[in-house]
Amino acid sequence: MRSWSVVALLLVAALGWSSALENGLARTPPMGWLAWERFRCNTDCKNDPDNCISDRLFRTMADIVVNEGYAAVGYEYINVDDCWLEKERDINGNLVPDRERFPYGMKSLSNYVHSKGLKFGIYEDYGNYTCAGYPGVIGYMENDAAQFAAWDVDYVKLDGCYAHPSEMDQGYPEFGFHMNQTGRQMIYSCSWPVYQIYAGMQPNFTAIIQHCNLWRNFDDIQDSWASVETIIDYYGNNQDAIVPNAGPGHWNDPDMLIVGNFGLSYEQSKTQMAIWAILAAPLLMSVDLRTIRPEYKAILQNKKIIDVDQDPLGIQGRRIYKHKGIEIWARPITPVYQNYYSYAIAFLNRRTDGTPSDVSVTLKELGLQYPGGYRVEDLYEDVDYGVLTPQTKIKVKVNPSGVVILRCDLQTDDIYASNQYSAYSPLDQVFKVRPNSF
Ligand SMILES: *[C@@H]1O[C@H](CO)[C@@H](O)[C@H](O)[C@H]1NC(C)=O
Ligand SMILES: *[C@@H]1O[C@H](CO)[C@@H](O)[C@H](O)[C@H]1NC(C)=O
Ligand SMILES: *[C@@H]1O[C@H](CO)[C@@H](O)[C@H](O)[C@H]1NC(C)=O
Repeated sequence: MRSWSVVALLLVAALGWSSALENGLARTPPMGWLAWERFRCNTDCKNDPDNCISDRLFRTMADIVVNEGYAAVGYEYINVDDCWLEKERDINGNLVPDRERFPYGMKSLSNYVHSKGLKFGIYEDYGNYTCAGYPGVIGYMENDAAQFAAWDVDYVKLDGCYAHPSEMDQGYPEFGFHMNQTGRQMIYSCSWPVYQIYAGMQPNFTAIIQHCNLWRNFDDIQDSWASVETIIDYYGNNQDAIVPNAGPGHWNDPDMLIVGNFGLSYEQSKTQMAIWAILAAPLLMSVDLRTIRPEYKAILQNKKIIDVDQDPLGIQGRRIYKHKGIEIWARPITPVYQNYYSYAIAFLNRRTDGTPSDVSVTLKELGLQYPGGYRVEDLYEDVDYGVLTPQTKIKVKVNPSGVVILRCDLQTDDIYASNQYSAYSPLDQVFKVRPNSF
């Protein structure tokens, strides 16, 4: 069945996303581990050696990503965030990693990460300082891009503190230009739109897509359900502007996965993972992998949901229903046939009246109209509903602040042989007309 992916890729190529950044990277949303949400700017290695931002922390996480099955399901990048630097550049203007916490330097850490078969990410800031007050790249862009390439960096997150948002339309492309000039392929993660939105500006997404592989639209995630809810609402409420910007090589970034930390219940953790997959979000875990409980690890390693996130079409999903605390989200995925997509469907219960809610709907009401039907599968519960026609009513029970996520694959056994499909605009298709209540 996976050979459908090839067809889908050809389809996307035919449609042409020619104005996007073409560094060949992030064809699906990047996956990995990122220090920030869990470990922040903890620089106190004397009193808290296990949790401070240090060489040892990143080597340890790289080991676990490989040894405990995360790499096998697709997590690949080990990303340093803020607070890795000395407060001053050296006399030649070069960035210097903190001499006590990164005693072997960044090339050594990068080599270690690569020796594990993983990729290495780093953090800087388009501004005079990073958010935590370390040296920013302004005035040193060519030099810093060359430095990252020399350290064999694979991924650069460029934050936007201590910068003028009005200068970002020029500054982010400029740093991207210098990254490109190094000749080393590096994913470029930008904070460009979020700072402009905060400043009341309207970001130019045409330009952002041309220059960045991913970008932040909204607030930093915090370790709480309230934070996850505000992010879900932001992406739902602004989806008409946000969704069309996503595609292979260029992604909206709703920020890190906080699954396995302190703030989310089990149900809420399942919800974050499911909605991030619907959003075609980068999957960057920010959690202590040494102490994560098995049920949360299982959520992060749920291959069926990761497959939705990594679907080769790269079409971001949308909220298609919201009424009395019940939401339904849908994402078009492969396999594709003629004017029909397969879908991932997430049912979300935001009600606070304390019991599971039944949601009952026909596939047709969800916009799934292929007469040959869909094979429907629950991605958390291992329930196979078999092949359902569009007229079939499905009923799911959704726990408070929880989710049910289904995969509905076009039933295509005869179709693949016939090998006929037509190019058309996916964004005009199923999401346009939708009854607002059912
Ligand atoms: C950064 O520093 C330069 C030079 O001192 C200054 O002109 C500029 O306004 C500063 N930018 C911000 C956002 O403070
Ligand atoms: C640099 O940009 C050119 C033009 O878009 C592209 O073909 C090339 O692959 C880029 N190189 C790197 C290393 O990103
Ligand atoms: C947005 O960016 C594109 C591509 O760089 C550019 O052609 C266009 O003029 C910009 N639009 C505005 C309103 O600045």
